[in-house]
Amino acid sequence: MNWNPESWQTRSAVQQPNYPDSAALARAVESLRGLPPLVTSWEVDALRTQLAEAEAGKRFVLQGGDCAESFADCRPEIITNRLKVLLQMSLVLVHGMKMRVTRLGRFAGQYAKPRSADTETRDGVTLPAYRGDLVNAPEFTPQARIPDPQRLIEGHTRSAMTINFVRGLIDGGFADLHHPEYWDLAWVGHSPLAAEYQARVDAIGDSLRFMERLAGTELHAFNRVDFHTSHEALLLWYEQAQTRQVPRKIGWYNLSTHFPWIGMRTADLDGAHVEYCRGIANPVGVKIGPAIDEAWLLGLCRTLNPDNEAGRLVLIHRMGAGEIANHLPRLIETVKREGRRVLWLSDPMHGNTQTLGNGIKTRRFDDILSEVTQSFDIHAACGSRLGGVHLELTGEDVTECLGGARDLTEKDLERAYRSQVDPRLNYEQAMELALKMAALRR
Ligand code: PEP
Ligand code: CO
Repeated sequence: MNWNPESWQTRSAVQQPNYPDSAALARAVESLRGLPPLVTSWEVDALRTQLAEAEAGKRFVLQGGDCAESFADCRPEIITNRLKVLLQMSLVLVHGMKMRVTRLGRFAGQYAKPRSADTETRDGVTLPAYRGDLVNAPEFTPQARIPDPQRLIEGHTRSAMTINFVRGLIDGGFADLHHPEYWDLAWVGHSPLAAEYQARVDAIGDSLRFMERLAGTELHAFNRVDFHTSHEALLLWYEQAQTRQVPRKIGWYNLSTHFPWIGMRTADLDGAHVEYCRGIANPVGVKIGPAIDEAWLLGLCRTLNPDNEAGRLVLIHRMGAGEIANHLPRLIETVKREGRRVLWLSDPMHGNTQTLGNGIKTRRFDDILSEVTQSFDIHAACGSRLGGVHLELTGEDVTECLGGARDLTEKDLERAYRSQVDPRLNYEQAMELALKMAALRR
């Protein structure tokens, strides 16, 4: 198929930084190439099997994490809290949907961001845009904004620390279903949703004890859960350097993450990102928005999944609550008519971003819930199935999205708005969404 990890360089690559020192870039890519991988091909293959099961209606996928990780947030409390909220949400979904849940963190590599413009101007001064910590720094100074290839190495290092800590927690019993209190977040004590959450946790505990009495032994399968990582495969130098062949297996694996996805702005059929992703053995995602037409959609299916295999291609629709009903039905019909195998996920975040009068970017909880609800309904009405959700959330008590059980207002956004990029659901809003989804799917 005339592909290699560098063949993307022959295509137009949008959203890439302009590195001023190409020799330094080449040195950084070369040293990244020699470092140990972050994940293994066995794990990648195992995830692919799970995604095929989700496609067959036997699993639900919960993908979530920050819009952008930052190097400064590579800290134990932040990592633990994010893991906790994802575990709690997945538990609620398992219970409500009566289905296994695949947990996909948006972390350990979510360090590069697409931007709407190459430059940013403040008070008459124009500098390169901030493209994520993998590229440059957010401070508005000429020095901070110069793309620095050393950051590729730093990003790999921080991703390794993150994934190491997550693995340690999970292997050590942090996610033991016998002990949900290990991953309680502080909110469980005082939230309006606490009782509903506690009731679900108690019900799971009861079922577990019932099964263990039947089995006459503790069920060790419930001592741990699995977790996979994902990030937007945006900065192709980073992805290329970690694309490897492994002994006794055919093909090339991106071993920087289990599940890379192509963002909406880089999903051009002839572009570098599609070229790169078509050649790797990992399952791959593509974000699709209202601009996608039938030819483009089918082109993505054929290019990214030429053998029409289950568990290979994930279409992540992000239309906006007001637009989804106008677009999703025709996309589902096209995929069905052509017999293409895909897993559908809903990203209810990126089509629902709005900018307030004061320039702050936010999202309304009700729009997010509405897009998820419509996604379930439209798939069901079209004889298809929504296989999961893709969310931007944090385990912290931030105030970035409006609404939710505490009904956060524009005034509240001043209290704890921390995102450098998109507004995230805070832990309580994220749990509320999970509880509502669980109730929807009973
Ligand atoms: C994102 O997931 O943060 C993102 C930029 O999404 P999209 O490509 O859908 O705009
Ligand atoms: Co985002």
